[in-house]
Amino acid sequence: MNKSKFTVTAALPYANGPLHLGHVAGVYLPADIFVRFLRSNGHDVAFICGSDEHGAAITLRAKKEGITPREIVDKYNQIIGDSFKQFGISFDIFHRTSAQIHIETAQDFFKVLEEKGKFIEETTEQYYDEEYQQFLADRYITGECPNCQNPNAYGDQCEKCGSALSPTDLKNPVSTLSGKSPVLRSTSHWFLPMDRHEEWLRPWIKEGILDGKQQHDPKAWRNQVIGQCMSWIDCGLHPRAMTRDLDWGVPVPLPGADGKVLYVWLDAPIGYISATKQWALDNGKDWKDYWCNEDRKLVHFIGKDNIVFHAIIFPILLKDHGGFILPDNVPAYEFLNLEGDKFSTSRNWAVWLHEYLERYPEKIDELKYTLTCIAPETKDAEFTWKEYQARVNNELADILGNFINRALVLTQKYYEGKVPACGELTAEDKQVLVDMKAIPARIAELVYQYKLRDAQAEAMMLARIGNKYLADNEPWKLVKTDPKRVETIMNIALQITANLGLVLDPFLPETAAKIRAFVGTEVQTWDKSGTILLQAGDQTSTPTILFQKIDDEFVAREVEFLHASQPVAETTFPPQKEETSFDDFTKMDIRLGTIIEAIRVPKADKLLQLTVNTGIDTRTIVSGIAEHYSPEEVVGKTVAVLMNLAPRKIRGVESQGMILMAENEEGKLSFMIPEKGFEAGGEIR
Ligand code: MF3
Ligand code: ZN
Repeated sequence: MNKSKFTVTAALPYANGPLHLGHVAGVYLPADIFVRFLRSNGHDVAFICGSDEHGAAITLRAKKEGITPREIVDKYNQIIGDSFKQFGISFDIFHRTSAQIHIETAQDFFKVLEEKGKFIEETTEQYYDEEYQQFLADRYITGECPNCQNPNAYGDQCEKCGSALSPTDLKNPVSTLSGKSPVLRSTSHWFLPMDRHEEWLRPWIKEGILDGKQQHDPKAWRNQVIGQCMSWIDCGLHPRAMTRDLDWGVPVPLPGADGKVLYVWLDAPIGYISATKQWALDNGKDWKDYWCNEDRKLVHFIGKDNIVFHAIIFPILLKDHGGFILPDNVPAYEFLNLEGDKFSTSRNWAVWLHEYLERYPEKIDELKYTLTCIAPETKDAEFTWKEYQARVNNELADILGNFINRALVLTQKYYEGKVPACGELTAEDKQVLVDMKAIPARIAELVYQYKLRDAQAEAMMLARIGNKYLADNEPWKLVKTDPKRVETIMNIALQITANLGLVLDPFLPETAAKIRAFVGTEVQTWDKSGTILLQAGDQTSTPTILFQKIDDEFVAREVEFLHASQPVAETTFPPQKEETSFDDFTKMDIRLGTIIEAIRVPKADKLLQLTVNTGIDTRTIVSGIAEHYSPEEVVGKTVAVLMNLAPRKIRGVESQGMILMAENEEGKLSFMIPEKGFEAGGEIR
C-alpha cells in the first residue's frame, strides 16, 4: 500500500456567516473522512483549515450588521470553529488569516514574487466613490448586466445569467456604499500575468506532467475539475490583479502602496501555509516538511466555485515562488440543494450546522451518514428531512443498529458476554469471512480515489452481511437443537461486529467508538481490518441502542422550522412617491361616504355607478370595482371618498369624486372601512 505523506487542506470558510449543511457535505465532511482514513492507515498527515477573514465578503457583511470587520471575523471565527469541533471535524489546526504569522507569511510570499519579477505593475481605471473617497471592489458595484439586462448584477458576476463580468462591463453602475454612480480614477496595481503560464498548466492539469516528470495521476482528478480548468485556459488566460484598493486586508509590503492590500484570493490560500507554520511551531515540527517535500501529497478539498483558484492560480503562485510542491489532487464538490431549492443565506433557506448541533447534539453520526450518502461528488445533490429519516431508520437503525444489538444481546444471554469458541466452518461461514476480509480493501481503494460515498456504502455492506447472516441462521431458534453450531455462528457475528468498529471509524467515529467499547477492542489500525479481532473468552458488554428512529413528527417539525425561519417575502409594491408638502396634502378633501345605491354601468365590465351620501350632499361616483364587488355587496358600506377631484365623464356618466381603495400584491381591491361609530361626512386627515 502507498505510504506517502499527506498535507490535506479544506477550503477556508469566509468568517462572514455560519456554516450550513451544503458546506459540510461538500468540503469538510469528506475531507475529514479522508484524513481519518489516512491516519488509520499510518500515513503521516497534517489536516489544515482556518477562517478566511479578508476581502469584500467580510466588509460587506460588517456594513450589513452595523459592526466593524474585526467584530465580524471574531464573531464568525468563533461560531464556525466551535461547530467544527462539536461536529468532530478533526483538523490539526483551525487557524485564521488575520493572525500576525499569516500577515507576515503572505507579505513575504508577495515580496519574493515581486523581487523575482513575477508581477507586472499596471495603471488602470477603476471605479471610485467620491462621497466615501474610496475605490470600489467588484462586489461594491452593481449595475445592469450587459448579457441578460439583470439590473442588479455585481461588478464581478451576474448571479442571474452566471456570466463573469468586470465592473466596467456594467451599464449604469452604482456604488453600493453611497448609492451614487461612481467615477473612473486611475490606480496602479500588481498583476499576475497568467498568460505566461498556459504552456506548463495544460500538460500538468491534463496529464499530470510537469518538467517531463509524472507528478500526479490525472485519472484520479475529477472530470469536472479538469474540464473547468481546461475551458478556462482555452478561453485564454489574462493578467489578474493581485492587489486591491481596500482598507481591510494584508497591506501590500512595498513603499508607496498605502491603502492597498493583497487580493483575497492571493492572501487566503497562503493561509494554508501560515496555518501549517503555526501548527508546526506548536508541535515541534518543521512546516517545510509539509509544503516543500517531494514525498508528500498536497490535497485541497473545495467546492466547485473554488476550482480555478486552487488548480490554476495558487499553483502558479507556488511555482513562481519556488520551493513548493504543487497539489496532487483538488477534489472539488458540486452543490447541495435543500428541500427543492438552493441553499441561500440571504433568504435563510438553510439548515445551519450550529443550530442542528444545538437541537440534536446526540445525532452527529446520523447527520454524517446521511450527508455522505448524498455527497455531491459528481453532480448537484439534495438534502431533504424525509431522506434523512429514511437513511437513519432503514439503514442505520434497521441494519447496523439491529445487527450489533442482536449479536451482543444474544452473547449476553447465552454466554454471559464471553466470546464463544469457533468450531468447524460451513461453506457459508467461510464465504462470510472472505467477504469480511475483502471489504476493507475495497473501501481503501475507493477512498484513495476520493469516492467516499461509495466507500461508506461498502462499509455498510459489512453490516448488511452480518444482519443477513444472523437472519438466515436464526441462532435464537437453533440454540435449542444445536448449541455447538450456535457458538460458531455467534463467534463469526462478533468478529463482524468488531470489524465494524474498525471500518466505520472514518465515517461514523462516535458509533465506531461505541462498538469498540461494546466488544472491548482498542482503536486498531486499518491493517488489522478484515481479520479475526476477538478471541474465545474475550468479554463483551450489554449494548445500548445505537440509533433512535426518526418519527414523522420530527420531519414535520424540521420542515416547518425551515419555512418559519424565512424572512418576510420581498414585496412587489411600488416604491414611495416623490415628496409632497403638507400644504399640498391639505388641499385634498377626503371624507367618509355611505353608498346608498349601486348599479352596473352598461357595457363596462369594470364599472359600478354609485350614489353616495357624503354627509354634505348626495352625489354620483363611477368606480372601477365591478370585478371585485357586486352592486348588492356594496350598498350600505361606509367608505373613504376623495371629494374634490375635478369631475369627469366616464362612459357618459359624470363622476363627482373617487372611492379610495387598498390594493394587495395580487391586485385585489378592498374598501377602507372605518370602525363602528364613524359616519358619512367624517373627515380623513
Ligand atoms: N473563503 C473562500 C470561500 O468560501 C474559500 C477560500 S479557500 C482558500 O469560497 F484557501 F483559498 F482560502
Ligand atoms: Zn446577466
